[in-house]
Amino acid sequence: MPHLNLESFHPLTFPTHCGEVEFLFQANYKNRDEGALIATRYKGKEFFLVYKNNGIKKLLKSDKVTRPSPNFLLKHALLAYAECSGSPILDSNVDNAPENAHLKTYDALKSIQFFADNFPKEREVRIEVGFGSARHLLHQALANPDVLFIGLEIHKPSIEQALKQIVIQNITNIMILDYDARLFLEFVPSNIVGKIYVHFPVPWDKKPHRRVISEAFLKESERVLRVGGTLELRTDSENYYRFALETFSSPRQSRFEVRKNQEIAIVSKYEDRWKKQEKNIYDVTFTCDTESPEPDMIGNFTFSEGKIGAHAVDRLSKETYKREWGFMHVERTFSVGEKGSMIRLAMGSFDRPESTYVLIENGTARYYPSLPVRSSANLNAHILLDELIHG
Ligand SMILES: C[S@@+](CC[C@H](N)C(=O)[O-])C[C@H]1O[C@@H](n2cnc3c(N)ncnc32)[C@H](O)[C@@H]1O
Repeated sequence: MPHLNLESFHPLTFPTHCGEVEFLFQANYKNRDEGALIATRYKGKEFFLVYKNNGIKKLLKSDKVTRPSPNFLLKHALLAYAECSGSPILDSNVDNAPENAHLKTYDALKSIQFFADNFPKEREVRIEVGFGSARHLLHQALANPDVLFIGLEIHKPSIEQALKQIVIQNITNIMILDYDARLFLEFVPSNIVGKIYVHFPVPWDKKPHRRVISEAFLKESERVLRVGGTLELRTDSENYYRFALETFSSPRQSRFEVRKNQEIAIVSKYEDRWKKQEKNIYDVTFTCDTESPEPDMIGNFTFSEGKIGAHAVDRLSKETYKREWGFMHVERTFSVGEKGSMIRLAMGSFDRPESTYVLIENGTARYYPSLPVRSSANLNAHILLDELIHG
């Protein structure tokens, strides 16, 4: 993580320009000596730099929540701050290298915001859940160049491996997302998916609530699949197979079928292993027989009118608010200028909480520097926050 170790930290007068980098305002920790966030704008991106003083070291570094990509934006901003504020650098791991052209080839990696803002709808979409070694994903993408493949994975080394292969093999029809598959489908428009592959999911025998396949996942799959589209579960786990049968059997308009030890075109690492051990492999294929309406996710992330009182933030900071859709919790509070304040929130679903900042100035609140991802859990958390903040 790029950082500067400073001899002393000097504040700026805000707002100010330092070459191309703009520094907009400073949000101080409740104990000012402990540190601050510095709102920064550079090449169209807004993010925070973090100043932290732990008594021994004075570090200027990146903020995890708003960290910009590519990395050179952050490095240039850190160096610009030190130079313009006259804060001497003792040592650092930051160079002033220009943008790394090489990184641009990793275009396949997308953020959830990308899908939430503008889901690509021009061509058939197929989704692979937990692609692991990506053998199957790469094979399918090469065999079906007109289809857009979205690969979901939460294991970072697997993601990096897949991205490398995508570049080496010059594949242009795969998008990779580091996101929990149980939460992704709500961002997908109805009736556009041809296939959802769930191959050898983690069985989670002791924590079945973590399984990808569930009643809710199946319901969302039926909505996003086009008529004739399929959800394909392939597993070596007898437990998972039985559990899936039960889930798939609950009454709905579509149908499913089961096969045992069926050969498929490409064999994953897991499958190789199970085959050597002569384990049975089960396929449960769910076929969508019905068209679905678009989901109506209502609401937005604006706060209601009405002045927010001076003590609203203090009132919030003690508690974690848990609800059936997820939770909301104020992690940290900051002061901004003479009268303003800012909070860092954790909110949304328990499975994939999101952190975000809310800036409160002149009695009104807004998310800063960007809105939360538009998921149903985040919208619910926003409604709750809006109620609480207005007392
Ligand atoms: C047993 S591996 C199977 C990998 C691959 N499908 C194969 O057949 O070789 C399961 C994969 O699913 C990923 N995974 C587990 N839970 C997930 C979730 N909720 N969302 C996305 N990926 C998940 C894991 O990181 C792991 O790579």
